[in-house]
Amino acid sequence: MEAAGIKTIVVSDLCKRFGWLEVLSDINFDVKQGELVCILGPSGCGKTTILRIIAGLVPHYYGSVLLEGEDIRINRDSLHNTAIVFQEPRLLPWRTVWQNIRLSLELRNKKMEADDEQLVEHALALVGLSEFAKSFPHQLSGGMKQRVALARALVTQPQMLFMDEPLTGLDLRNREELQDEILRIWNEKKVSLLLVTHDPAEAIYMADRIIVLSGRPSSIRDIISVSIPRPRPRDAAETLALEQYIRSLFGDD
Ligand SMILES: Nc1ncnc2c1ncn2[C@@H]1O[C@H](COP(=O)(O)OP(=O)(O)OP(=O)(O)O)[C@@H](O)[C@H]1O
Ligand SMILES: [Mg+2]
Repeated sequence: MEAAGIKTIVVSDLCKRFGWLEVLSDINFDVKQGELVCILGPSGCGKTTILRIIAGLVPHYYGSVLLEGEDIRINRDSLHNTAIVFQEPRLLPWRTVWQNIRLSLELRNKKMEADDEQLVEHALALVGLSEFAKSFPHQLSGGMKQRVALARALVTQPQMLFMDEPLTGLDLRNREELQDEILRIWNEKKVSLLLVTHDPAEAIYMADRIIVLSGRPSSIRDIISVSIPRPRPRDAAETLALEQYIRSLFGDD
């Protein structure tokens, strides 16, 4: 059954090719206000490409992307309500944690506002890094760098947050800890969250709905509503059965 709610992101008939390479074929889905949706699929299936298109970073594609009801090719205003966390933290090594986070605000407003300081402080506190404001990226662990990248996205107070495999490369403990933190922040901030992952277990743990992609070019194999109450058990029979079903959609079970 379709969840009720205002659709903040609507992707219709999206197709994308890079030269001769057809990557995405006929992608249709939506994200409702406050919903957490995962895009799940094997490596190279076009997950990053979808996210980059929705974030307004890829101009040429077929089909349409509506954010808050507006086609991003016609009206880019709603893109100001979005923020993206990339697959790698992409921090500037010569800037402190504080300055890296402040950069998002600097890029948006030409001159800094008085309450910008508070916004940075709040974002730092949200990801639990207040004590490391003056550290440089090389002094941080991988998980901490990802937290900074998350804070840098949160500082502009987006209503739509896009995350591209932000936890890949972290060890299991760090990954599970950050999954919980992302869920907590999502809950607190009531953002619409579109999260890319290639890990079925992560998608089942996090998502309200999972969009499963596979094939070449990629198309949507299924959109799965996950109704297991949170906090979700990681190895319950229900979870494992769902994971097996998803893997069968990938074609690699
Ligand atoms: N700018 C580009 N120019 C040419 N081909 C590209 C470009 N960006 C992506 N591709 C191709 O599109 C396909 C999908 O890439 P994409 O990065 O979206 O996959 P992905 O699902 O995010 O993979 P991964 O899980 O490894 O991050 C790949 O075959 C890739 O080579
Ligand atoms: Mg990718």
